[in-house]
This record gives sequence, structure tokens and C-alpha cells, in this order.
Amino acid sequence: MKITISVIKADIGSIGGHIKPSNLLLETVKNYVSEYGKELLKDFYIGFTGDDIAILMTHTHGKGNEAVHKLAWDAFKAGTIVAKNQGLYGAGQDLLKDSFSGNVKGMGPAVAELEFEERPNEPFLFFAADKTEPGAYNLPLYLTFTDPMYCAGLLLSSEMSKGFKFTVMDVSYTRGDKVIDLKTPEEIYELASLLRDNERFVVESVYSRATGDQAVAVSTTRLHNIAGKYTGKDDPIMLVRVQKQFPATGEVLAPYSIGHLVGGFMRGSHTGPLMPVKLNSTISYFDGPPVVSCAAFCVQNGKLTEPVDAFDHPFWEYVRDQISKKAIEIRRQGFSGPAMLPYSELEYGGIVEIMNRLEKKFRVRKK
Ligand code: F6R
Ligand code: MG
Ligand code: MG
Repeated sequence: MKITISVIKADIGSIGGHIKPSNLLLETVKNYVSEYGKELLKDFYIGFTGDDIAILMTHTHGKGNEAVHKLAWDAFKAGTIVAKNQGLYGAGQDLLKDSFSGNVKGMGPAVAELEFEERPNEPFLFFAADKTEPGAYNLPLYLTFTDPMYCAGLLLSSEMSKGFKFTVMDVSYTRGDKVIDLKTPEEIYELASLLRDNERFVVESVYSRATGDQAVAVSTTRLHNIAGKYTGKDDPIMLVRVQKQFPATGEVLAPYSIGHLVGGFMRGSHTGPLMPVKLNSTISYFDGPPVVSCAAFCVQNGKLTEPVDAFDHPFWEYVRDQISKKAIEIRRQGFSGPAMLPYSELEYGGIVEIMNRLEKKFRVRKK
């Protein structure tokens, strides 16, 4: 049976700053999808990571389906009313357009979708990150899908050893989708040359070269490209099919032990290590650190199992301790050098005003 998994997420308000959505807000979104998605959906799951609510839906209507996207948009609209009534911070923040027009792409919420013929056993992973940028998944995906130091399947599985095709988007281009396809292993240096720049080049999808099946879908929304100004970090989501012709779950998770440095953290304007956290985690230290959660599922005829929390294991407690040290270490240098993002990525304009004022006071010395 051909099934589509659509996950759509938005920040529509949270308690105590940018910490987490209220229970009433989550209930409202859940009840809306449950009531109005009865006919349309096979199944759904609602979760949160930091201040973002994700609606994961299974159905048979294909990617970019108007009714499915509108259901999520309307659920977020209904939630926004509750968020406003409760005085939640940033109520309706990610709903950047007034009226729905066919597809949530370009309207604020992030979207990732996969359509495939179900295998007899169909495991997949749903990642959600908060206080960071879409390129946060670049390095983990590169290591899982191209590097046998991280992914044993590249050596041990005859299907995986045929390599993968990456589609990478240049998110600085705003007049349309500017993308490039690169085949691994042949083009790993070209791929690495792009993926070193997490702000600009973002992995959008990965396909198996052995079977042609899509393994990965990442949201590539850049909120400031839509709003024309910085409105917050993009907090990307990702779906990954696993096992058989794809990497094993553990091979997809392995690179998250690094806690690699990404853009985001406080005011979306700093550099911090990406910490793998449990499902439904909050945000704390310096409005961070940047976090990523992972819910593992199996799906059969569109019906989801309960989610398993992939980062809820004693191993990740040790990793979180290491990453906390890394977060404190980079924070010790405050605004200096790479601890704060370059001008183009700063979420706030205040510093530009300071620079403009100072420019007038600069003088060039005579020889
Ligand atoms: C980062 C984030 C927070 C806020 C910070 C200030 O993505 O959401 O770090 O930027 O709490 O928030 P405002 O300017 O809304 O008071
Ligand atoms: Mg937010
Ligand atoms: Mg967020």
C-alpha cells in the first residue's frame, strides 16, 4: 500500500518565554486534528520539542496535499486562539500569512513528507530540533549516509554500498527552489564542500541508489525569507526511513553523540552544541542549548505504533553531560568571535543600529 507521512510543525506560543507550549494548547491542536482529520487521515501523532508543536500524519493523498496541509494550518489557527487567550508568549508566531493558499510551504510552518510503498515491516524516525537552523542535520546525514566510520552498513550491506543520492538546497536563493543532486560515494568532496556551510546549503532529501527509494525528507524553511526579516530560528524537522536498503536506526543516531556546533541558541544568534534530548523536552540554559529529539515508529497500512523515544537511554545521559560541558565552554567567550553568529545570521537588528552610529564616529588618520 502506498502511504504518505506528512509532518508539519509550528511555534504558535509557549509558556514562560520560549520554553514549551501549554497543555491546553497541545490538547486543542490534538482535538482539532482528531475531529477534522477523521476522514482524511489514517493516523496521527502530536508532540513538542521546546516551543514547537509537530503534527505527524499518515494518509494516502500524496505529498503537498491541500486538504492535509489545510488541516494542520487550521489546527494551528485554532491553537493560536487558545495561545492568545492564555497570554502565551509568541502566540501564532510562525503563522506568517493571513490566509491559507494551497500548501503550508512558504507560510511559516515547517514541513517534511515521504511517500512510499509500505514494506512488510516499516520502521521510520521523526526528528524535531529547536533553537537551531535547517542545516543542523547536514553533518549527521553526511556521516550516516557516506562515512563507514559512522555507518557500518556502507561496508556490510550490498544495497547500501551502492551509495545514495543527496538533493541539497541553496536556501539563500529566494526566487524559487535552487537545488543540486550529488551522488555518493563519487561526489562526497563536492557534497562536503556544500554541507560545511549550514546556513546556506541544506540537505533536503536522500535517496537509495540501489532501489531509488527516498530515505530522508528535511524541512528547508527559512522564516526570514518569507517574512523579509528575521522572525526566529527555523527549528527543522526530518523524517528518515531505516533498516534494509537504508541505514539502521543506530547508524542514523550515532552522529548525534558528537554534539556538533550549530547556529541558534539565545536569540537565534549564537553558536552552540546540538544536544539529543528526550521527547517533549523543554528549553533552558541560555534559551538552549539547541536540541534535537527523535521519535521512532513502525507503520502498517498507515496505522502508527506508539512512538519510542530514541534518545531516552542511559547512553545519552553521558552524551548530554559531555554536551553540557561543551555548551558552557563556548558560552564562556560570550559575544566573541565564533560564539556569536555573523551579521547576516543575527536575529536582532539592534547591533546594526549601533554599527551605523559608530560608523559616523570613525575617522581615517592622515598619513
Ligand atoms: C531563540 C529564541 C529565544 C528568544 C529570546 C528573546 O530562537 O526563541 O532565544 O530569541 O528569548 O525573545 P524575545 O525577543 O521574543 O523577547
Ligand atoms: Mg520559537
Ligand atoms: Mg522553536
